[in-house]
Amino acid sequence: MELKEFAQTVSERINAFMKNYIDNFDDAAPDLKEAMSYGLLLGGKRARPLLVYATGLALGSSFEKLDYPAAAIECIHAYSLIHDDMPEMDNDKLRRGHETVHVKFSQTIALLAGDSLQTMAFEILSDSKSGLSDKAVANLVKILSSKAGYTGMCGGQAMDLDSEGKKIPLEKLRLLHSKKTGALIRAAVLMGAVASENVTESVLLILDEYAKYTGLAFQIWDDILDVIGDTSVMGKTQGSDISLDKSTYVSLLGLDNAKKLAYECVENAVNELKKLDIDTSVLAQFARFTISRDH
Ligand code: IPE
Ligand code: IPE
Ligand code: MG
Ligand code: MG
Ligand code: MG
Repeated sequence: MELKEFAQTVSERINAFMKNYIDNFDDAAPDLKEAMSYGLLLGGKRARPLLVYATGLALGSSFEKLDYPAAAIECIHAYSLIHDDMPEMDNDKLRRGHETVHVKFSQTIALLAGDSLQTMAFEILSDSKSGLSDKAVANLVKILSSKAGYTGMCGGQAMDLDSEGKKIPLEKLRLLHSKKTGALIRAAVLMGAVASENVTESVLLILDEYAKYTGLAFQIWDDILDVIGDTSVMGKTQGSDISLDKSTYVSLLGLDNAKKLAYECVENAVNELKKLDIDTSVLAQFARFTISRDH
């Protein structure tokens, strides 16, 4: 299937699923509820749900079962963006073509919207309606919590903030990127695989290698877009990294070498998939998309 068509199907499906989940919450804190919807549902590519579905379906799972891990990881991602944009972190005013959550609502609400989306992820993941086995659910919770927390995204965010105003060694930047963005990309692929309840350890290892390369390409390209992207197309402010003097692949290697490295990562990602005898064409197309996208 074409990536574009698959992405469209996935977006519509996961948006409806997540909207329904929030709609079912009570209305005791309407501002918070609105901010959660705003940060979660308004715009965004749904790249991580796409990876959950693409991986799980390739291993024989169903859309219905994969809805739960797909929604859970997107909740974590949305929370990470809301907090990432706050003045304490990147201090950005534009996200997904709209005002950032703390600008539109308040810093207090942005903080709580992030917190509530984070816990919502685990509420969804442990929902007995998913039809996933207890063993799979325990495994999924372990993957998502570890990849989102200290050893994953949050740790990477701390390294990122610490990299401002200095040139860190390339090896350290690679680690930083593998945590702040790579960890959730890996989680998406691993969760799709585990939710299929039909994956061997050796296949999981290959998929994980694919995800590591793809995640690095994804963040290198994000760094590149900060330099060559268009604010109105990206829906976030071009030059944000430059104005904060962040360590990025472009600031350390220059634009051409950063691009070269991103291409190499994609080649490696696609080569990993060739070791598998399942239909991984959507995953291969996604890897290529990471370095051809304009947003
Ligand atoms: C942006 O992620 C932040 C990074 C981790 C690079 P995406 O590029 O997936 O953002 P949305 O979800 O499409 O807005
Ligand atoms: C964010 O990285 C990674 C997260 C964990 C949210 P960036 O700070 O580069 O993401 P953008 O460019 O603001 O989307
Ligand atoms: Mg950031
Ligand atoms: Mg940012
Ligand atoms: Mg960025």
